[in-house]
Amino acid sequence: MEQKKKRTITITSGKGGVGKSSIVSNMAYILGTMNKLTYILDADLSLGNIDIMFGMFPKYNIKDLIEGKKRIGEIVVEGPCGIRVIPATSGVAELSNLSMEERNILFSSFQELPEHDFLFVDTSAGISSNVVYFNAISQDIFIIVTPDPASITDSYAVIKVLHKRTGRKDFNILINMVKDEQEALDIYKNILLVTDRFLDVYLNFFGFIPADAQVNAATRKQKLWVERSPEAPAAKALQKICERLVS
Ligand SMILES: Nc1ncnc2c1ncn2[C@@H]1O[C@H](COP(=O)(O)OP(=O)(O)O)[C@@H](O)[C@H]1O
Ligand SMILES: [Mg+2]
Repeated sequence: MEQKKKRTITITSGKGGVGKSSIVSNMAYILGTMNKLTYILDADLSLGNIDIMFGMFPKYNIKDLIEGKKRIGEIVVEGPCGIRVIPATSGVAELSNLSMEERNILFSSFQELPEHDFLFVDTSAGISSNVVYFNAISQDIFIIVTPDPASITDSYAVIKVLHKRTGRKDFNILINMVKDEQEALDIYKNILLVTDRFLDVYLNFFGFIPADAQVNAATRKQKLWVERSPEAPAAKALQKICERLVS
């Protein structure tokens, strides 16, 4: 049998509320339908919410892991379609800035994870030292951007800091909540205009997801929109993104 690749992908944004957690959980579901085994690390460490997306009530979380009380296999919870979630914890301020030692515990725990195809790291918005760290250890970096002008400028700021602090040059841009592909491309070109001028980075336009009322409707019910409305425009767009990811 083919060896699974264990590809770690960090999902980041400048601004909050751009759809990171929503995209990550729904992507994991689609990948599950493609027989890809996906872990999600809820790395919004002081404000866990991936478990909410799946309507889960995890017994343990990353705090137990970092404190040495549990091993990673004991805190992982299984969601629909075989998705495995590594839960965070809500409102624990000290986890917002992990020490070097705590990061090492986390990192070696990842090595303990059984074979999988993807490990998505769903970070908090902005550029805390945790966010820089998770981006530094992942194979691919995805930046989620929306048409909100603040999201566009903050994305540039995130790319700049990640590039300076980690030396990373390759960033994937995923545009969420747009009218159509043209709006997404315009936003992408807007960011490109600034990065091309001031930074030595390469931005890859990975795809876009339209603004879709089905997304909000499902989220309010703690349901995955790709499961509830697979024919909705957002679900179809995400399907395409997942196909590109595995190809
Ligand atoms: N394509 C979309 N169309 C409509 N609403 C969306 C879309 N993507 C995300 N949302 C909504 O935006 C809100 C924020 O999403 P969330 O995933 O929590 O953002 P983040 O994790 O970046 O803070 C949620 O209410 C979600 O339902
Ligand atoms: Mg989130």
